[in-house]
Amino acid sequence: MEGADEVMDERAVTREGDPGNPHGTFGERMLERMNRSHADVTNWALDLVDFHAGDRALDIGCGGGATMGRIADRIEAVGGGGHVSGVDHSEVSCATSRRQNEAAIRAGSMDVTCASVESLPFPDASFDVVTTVESFYFWPDPPRSLREVARVVRPGGRFLLVADVYRRPDLDDEVRENIERYDLTVLTPDEYVSLLEGAGFSHATAHLREGTTWIAVEGVR
Ligand SMILES: C[S@@+](CC[C@H](N)C(=O)[O-])C[C@H]1O[C@@H](n2cnc3c(N)ncnc32)[C@H](O)[C@@H]1O
Repeated sequence: MEGADEVMDERAVTREGDPGNPHGTFGERMLERMNRSHADVTNWALDLVDFHAGDRALDIGCGGGATMGRIADRIEAVGGGGHVSGVDHSEVSCATSRRQNEAAIRAGSMDVTCASVESLPFPDASFDVVTTVESFYFWPDPPRSLREVARVVRPGGRFLLVADVYRRPDLDDEVRENIERYDLTVLTPDEYVSLLEGAGFSHATAHLREGTTWIAVEGVR
């Protein structure tokens, strides 16, 4: 007999798994699916960043851990020798990220820590590059959370905030309803730029991908 989860559609799995704080077996399944479904927007956004050999990188809201691997591949392609950390407030996300990146963690080139963005367990200026993909929607007190992100980026380092939807007049009704229902932070490009510049980044730029609702906001510390 099929289990209840096997007859649920993907939308129901996402609702039950809770993308803002994944839990349980639905959470695990959702994260594994997101590792695949977020590949295109993540790769587009990571292509905007100049990675360097030896970069220390952090992915906030690392979820299923695939972004950590994509960052490590990019550092490897320019000479390697870097380190990629992941942080997430969900125990299920931390466990899924650790499983996804088991070999690199064993080799000492990655680590995953369970914590919220509001209080990152890293010293000031620890990272050359910090990313967050499809996670900012859920962050508490965005100005304060972004000040905490800016604290851990070294001067001259970069932060990349990636989302597959930003606020614009022509969003589908279903997307608008989800933004309202789940109280997601979805801003206009100018609002993202002001928020980052007000949080301690010297300069921010919003990149939009034509033909999509994707945004990547890059802040330079
Ligand atoms: C929609 S999932 C995206 C996961 C992954 N970045 C990806 O692109 O597939 C959002 C992730 O952000 C994490 N998250 C949400 N709020 C957070 C917070 N305050 N601090 C740390 N992580 C958070 C969630 O636990 C979840 O793993």
